[in-house]
Amino acid sequence: MCGIVGYTGPREAYPIIIKGLKRLEYRGYDSTGVALQNGGLKVYKKKGKVADLEETLVGKNLHAHAGIGHTRWATHGEPSDLNAHPHRSSSGKLAMIHNGIIENYSQLKKELTNKGYQFSSETDTEVLLNFIEEIRNNNQCDLEEAVRIALKRVTGAYVILLLDEDKPETIIAARKGSPLVIGIGKGEHFLGSDASPMLEYTKEVVYVNDYELAIIKPDELILKNLGNEKITPYVQRLDLELAAIEKGGYEHFMLKEIFEQPQTIYDCLRGRLDATEGTITMSGIQQYAEQLVSANRIIMIACGTSWHAGLAAEYIFEELCRINVEVEYASEFRYRNPVINPGDVIIAISQSGETADTLVAIENAKSKGAIILGVVNVVGSSIARTSHGGAYTHAGPEIGVASTKAFTAQLAVLTMIALKIGYIKGTIPQQRYMHLLNELQEIPEKVAWVLKRSGHIKAVAEKYKDARDFLYLGRGYNFPVALEGALKLKEISYIHAEGYPAAEMKHGPIALVDEELPVVFVATKDSYHEKIVSNMQEIRARKGTVISVITEGDEVSTELSDDVMIVPEADEILAPMLSVVPLQLLAYYIGVAKGCDVDKPRNLAKSVTVE
Ligand code: G6P
Repeated sequence: MCGIVGYTGPREAYPIIIKGLKRLEYRGYDSTGVALQNGGLKVYKKKGKVADLEETLVGKNLHAHAGIGHTRWATHGEPSDLNAHPHRSSSGKLAMIHNGIIENYSQLKKELTNKGYQFSSETDTEVLLNFIEEIRNNNQCDLEEAVRIALKRVTGAYVILLLDEDKPETIIAARKGSPLVIGIGKGEHFLGSDASPMLEYTKEVVYVNDYELAIIKPDELILKNLGNEKITPYVQRLDLELAAIEKGGYEHFMLKEIFEQPQTIYDCLRGRLDATEGTITMSGIQQYAEQLVSANRIIMIACGTSWHAGLAAEYIFEELCRINVEVEYASEFRYRNPVINPGDVIIAISQSGETADTLVAIENAKSKGAIILGVVNVVGSSIARTSHGGAYTHAGPEIGVASTKAFTAQLAVLTMIALKIGYIKGTIPQQRYMHLLNELQEIPEKVAWVLKRSGHIKAVAEKYKDARDFLYLGRGYNFPVALEGALKLKEISYIHAEGYPAAEMKHGPIALVDEELPVVFVATKDSYHEKIVSNMQEIRARKGTVISVITEGDEVSTELSDDVMIVPEADEILAPMLSVVPLQLLAYYIGVAKGCDVDKPRNLAKSVTVE
């Protein structure tokens, strides 16, 4: 899983590529490389982040009008200078970058080794590149044809960009299973894993589809399928501003994104929720409302934080719609032989819309006849395009690797879908429906209220930053929030943290409790409140430290807690959108206090486009 950038046109390619790679570092950052058409093909690559490579290239002649760049997250071969992309073919004439995995690479490698090829890296990419070169030499064909023939033999996922020393203006690109966007300028073209590298140059883009191959020159874009038939590129206009992907004065993207939540939740509700009229308008859901209303079962499929949003939605859908809901890890679901019956509806939840496991899981379910609805943030992403219908979360670009604003936006969208379906089904009493609509409308303001108290959460973080482990407990709607709080802390600070249903704690985790273990209770006022208060008492009785997220004015919980983080009162169904915010901040401030790189935590990537 990696980020790729390319440029061909009259401008200097190198600065465009480096800037683009920095924007794509969320996709991986363990090594970086560029290939430039600089009077011959020049390749520079290095283990480390984009800035590390940039530093070593200061003062070099990097003049070029075409080039490609790569930021890597290792799959085949450890992060190293040799394994970094771009790779060069044996003749040195071709350079290639790749995002994805070539599953049958060892077989191809064996074939090539038998023919005398030698490899300087451990990557599947170098194998594919030499395979392409071998076909070109054998068949005496042009590079485009060789790529087409090679890709027919390849299993796995890829986006590749290729440069040929003899055709200094041309980039050849192909995609299957990993994202590729081509930006169209005046006499120039840009390439990227997403649109962020090209935003300041053009708003006109083409999302390349699976099994498509592009031949890109400054003033020409030819798109073909693997059968060599031309395809008319579908040019879309991007509705994304550059400011949306820059830090805007915050120290980290993660903090910026946490603080954006009043706005992002508002944006997500805007134009959809009308509390005065009592309506929810979601056209991509409306089309499938009948199937949802009559669904025997809804299966939520997701990974990571998005899976936690699905888990919270399970409680909400069951309560409001009286539909049986199952929440599945995409990675498990795709390899089982799941029973999918007529009348089942799948909801795929994904911030990036590119998570490989989620994508394949829904493709499998789709082939079995299921209706797929996507709750996705990135417009035009693979999951959005594979789904029959759905709703975008409109949270704007999320750059921090740990997901924050996408989670609350997912909750907002899923809650609206549940309200809409429950209302049509008649499983929500009219009064409760109107009450929830009004309360939902107030959530952005309430999140802002929580954020105003971030100074206090920072102080709590300072106090507990040296703890070795944390336990997060919640019940009901707040159980998924406990999981999400623990995940945030692990990701950002590398402190071991476990999320658990508060009552289940007695069946194991309670054995861990001593003076050293901070236990974070997500204990806002809801129908389970008395029960969770008893759980707090159980921890206190064992001399554990209690930190609680509580509703304003909850004196009982305050009394039982060493530290509290307060949120305003809200209906229990909507409470997760508030109670998660202090936990995002707690993780953030602990991570910063420990000196961790919170926007780029070690070993993680924003978008897991490999299985
Ligand atoms: C990665 C990210 C997580 C994210 C998960 C699912 O693990 O680091 O933040 O929750 O992928 O990604 P998706 O884009 O499908 O929501």
